[in-house]
Amino acid sequence: MNAPSWFVHARRALERMLACSRVPEDPGHARDVERWLLRLSPNADWPVRYAALAHDVDRALPDDQRVRREDFLDFDDFKAAHAANSARVAARLLREAGAPVSVVCEVTHLVLHHETGGESAELALLCDADALSFYTHNLPFYLLREGENEAVRRIRWGARRLSGRARQILARFPFANPIIGQMVLKEI
Ligand SMILES: [Fe+2]
Repeated sequence: MNAPSWFVHARRALERMLACSRVPEDPGHARDVERWLLRLSPNADWPVRYAALAHDVDRALPDDQRVRREDFLDFDDFKAAHAANSARVAARLLREAGAPVSVVCEVTHLVLHHETGGESAELALLCDADALSFYTHNLPFYLLREGENEAVRRIRWGARRLSGRARQILARFPFANPIIGQMVLKEI
């Protein structure tokens, strides 16, 4: 099925922003979350696909516009602010691309709650795809940048929100780096 024109245009604008991210894993993470989403649900709708691509766009913003970890005592508060800022930017890109209001609202809702999940099947799907991509794509970058103690803390934080389905997939995932594979398997 051909992508609607709002998706094509908003994706192009988003990819230009992600290419400038100061976080090296982010452009790949956006595409990887989309890939996981389509593996879990091959017929996933365009709004949830866009949410998969845009959910972390906050991290690609210039320093004076992004949410900064060091401004928050609590990691959950930081993640909530990050999700809200990503939702705000995703909505702007969609509006500029001419997306219908219903699409803007759906993507805003999905991105806003992508760290915590919720009742809807689409949100559960997005959470699983994001969580799987953290472990299978982001973690080597994260470990290198943040060190082992912080990586273990982040692995444990992420494990709290894994669904049974995501846990089973991770338990069988062929991690390229066996040390990372062991770190994940120990904590999930
Ligand atoms: Fe993410």
